[in-house]
Amino acid sequence: MSADILAIETSCDETAAAVVRDGRDCLGAAVSSQIDLHARFGGVVPEIASRSHQEVVNLIIDEALAQANLLLSEVDAVAVTRGPGLPGALIVGVAAAKALAYGAGKPLIGINHLEGHIFANFFTFPDLAPPFVALVVSGGHTLLAYIATPEAYEVLGQTLDDAAGEAFDKVAGYLELGYPGGPILEKLAAEGDPGAINFPRAMIKTADYDFSLSGLKTAVLYYVTKKQAAGEDLNLPDLAAGFQAAVIDVQVYKTVKAAEAKGAKTVVLAGGVAANQALKDRLGAEVAARGWRLFAPPLGLCTDNAIMIAAAAWPKWLRRDFLALDAEPDPNMKLGRYRAGLNCRR
Ligand code: KG4
Ligand code: ZN
Repeated sequence: MSADILAIETSCDETAAAVVRDGRDCLGAAVSSQIDLHARFGGVVPEIASRSHQEVVNLIIDEALAQANLLLSEVDAVAVTRGPGLPGALIVGVAAAKALAYGAGKPLIGINHLEGHIFANFFTFPDLAPPFVALVVSGGHTLLAYIATPEAYEVLGQTLDDAAGEAFDKVAGYLELGYPGGPILEKLAAEGDPGAINFPRAMIKTADYDFSLSGLKTAVLYYVTKKQAAGEDLNLPDLAAGFQAAVIDVQVYKTVKAAEAKGAKTVVLAGGVAANQALKDRLGAEVAARGWRLFAPPLGLCTDNAIMIAAAAWPKWLRRDFLALDAEPDPNMKLGRYRAGLNCRR
């Protein structure tokens, strides 16, 4: 049975809405980015995010419906990101979705934001099928998951402190290069020598699938302070390349190790940091060398959007896995239980 699902995403600093048919065909999509509002603070300010979502959420929903040439009464369900994310930001999308679902008499579907990032790949690649290992790397999350069958997420490991995107943002912020740091540092790194400065590869040797990125940030800070104290010039491209290589090395190593341990011959990249070409190239080379396949979404579907939320809602719509209208946002929503062998918690 076919379904047009309207999805809303407000977990962080993008207000997004989309209408997607059967999890595959995007009929309309709109995104309002708050980057300019947060840039001068060097990171997302939760109160500003929440207020900005409130200001534009209805316009963005209307825009997505208008592009799809559909009225609210013509969609089959309303999906929304329920968590994880900023509480004050999530509540705007959840309240809007509940109001629309109630007003139009449509079922409500709650989606985990990280599941959404993974579904950006299902949306993009019709031939993607489990089992696979997914590296989900964004501004708020860094985790490795094993997906044995659709929608069953076994979280193998995650960051113990900063997320990968957060590390990019903090290093760029410290160097006063702007926000968000990922694209800025990647551009600089392309001109630099990744071997010129050797930053620590934290936890690369540990037997788990966890990550730690806050020490790397401190190492960069320490390096910069030392150079400045000695009155020496900073080579920003080398610095960016060295930092980026340290992040990528650990992520690629642990992702490949996880896929080997699980016997998965498919690897999936997801989240804002998946926009990083150097990461895609390195992981792609390791995966190809083993005769495996790597999937990564196009740029616009790496960072936050509502197409991925609508795509994740499709199997739930088929199963009639609906959310009660008194459901609350879940800012700490888990993708699956931490540590191997347990099924997804919804
Ligand atoms: O998925 P996303 O839009 O939001 C969250 O769910 O967090 O990810 C945003 C993050 C930011 O930290 C940004 O710096 C990072 O993704 N990012 C990148 C690149 N593009 C965006 N990091 C590294 N390289 C990039 N090219
Ligand atoms: Zn995200």
